[in-house]
Amino acid sequence: MKGLILAAGKGSRLYPITHLIPKPLLPLANRVTMEYAFDRMKEMGITEIGIVVGENEAAMREGLGDGSKFGVKLSFVRQPEPKGLAHAVSFAEEFVAGDSFVLYLGDAIYDRSLAEFKDKFESSGCANLNLVMAVEDPSRFGVANVEGDRIVKLVEKPKNPESNLAMAGLYFFGPKIWSIFPTLQPSARGEYEITDAIQTLIDQGETVLAGEFKGTWFDTGTLDSYLETSFFLSGGDDIDASANVQGNTTSPVVIGKEATVSCNSIENSVVFPGAVVNVSGNIKNCILAGPVTAEGDLENQIIHGDWQG
Ligand code: DAU
Repeated sequence: MKGLILAAGKGSRLYPITHLIPKPLLPLANRVTMEYAFDRMKEMGITEIGIVVGENEAAMREGLGDGSKFGVKLSFVRQPEPKGLAHAVSFAEEFVAGDSFVLYLGDAIYDRSLAEFKDKFESSGCANLNLVMAVEDPSRFGVANVEGDRIVKLVEKPKNPESNLAMAGLYFFGPKIWSIFPTLQPSARGEYEITDAIQTLIDQGETVLAGEFKGTWFDTGTLDSYLETSFFLSGGDDIDASANVQGNTTSPVVIGKEATVSCNSIENSVVFPGAVVNVSGNIKNCILAGPVTAEGDLENQIIHGDWQG
């Protein structure tokens, strides 16, 4: 089985920092975001991984190389424009080359192994198995109607969800999916949806299964969720021993290797490794890649490069 990680999104909800660093390369608790995906892949015995990239291709190639420093073998697949998940996958047919594959959405973080779902996919012989998770706000996701462990209907971001089971960002496919991509039409939001491709498998009478994930699943796409994920992965506060911090720290705070922070107080914020931050007042709800110099307080900011306020 091969791995395919989608990372061609623009990361626009984390602008401006993602203009400088693609979201999959942002540090999360002193590791690169993608490393958590590589961990999950390796636990499943998967080391041959394709990464679907877009305009961030050069930065992604430079940041990840051939994958050897992470114990994986990477190939890069270019999606010319981000026109949807099914569109992104369709460019990877040559990379997958007739094998089965697991599709992993690049901004997903799972707190535990996913190997049991690979085993279930393989032992069942089904056309496709998808991770689902019960959530409180299913209308933000693809939503699955499940009978037993079979998915009988899928709807992308329904206004009135018929179930609370969200598609949780991990999909196992056999080769039957490839012939479906050319038949898809764009959805109401103008994207080629992976949920529509899977619904077509169901309509064709194929067995499509659900695997319910009972752990913690994060999507790192927004300022709030990025902060929350950082704090979770670092176990709350993580001020690296090599960081130099002057000022009061109030939980939760993550301060990376060799960062220098001078402020009155810092709370609910992440400072990247090596960043130099000088703020006369209080820092709250911020992602700071520095260097940052500011008079007074700094709140709800995502700052990269040189910044003076
Ligand atoms: O997070 C789970 C949800 O992910 C599922 O419940 C939905 O069914 C599924 O459609 C997807 O919804 P999102 O709207 O949240 O997907 P998003 O646009 O955030 O893209 C997910 C990842 O795929 C992200 O890492 C960027 C990458 N991507 C996205 C698009 C649209 C690509 O590589 N190419 C693309 O064209």
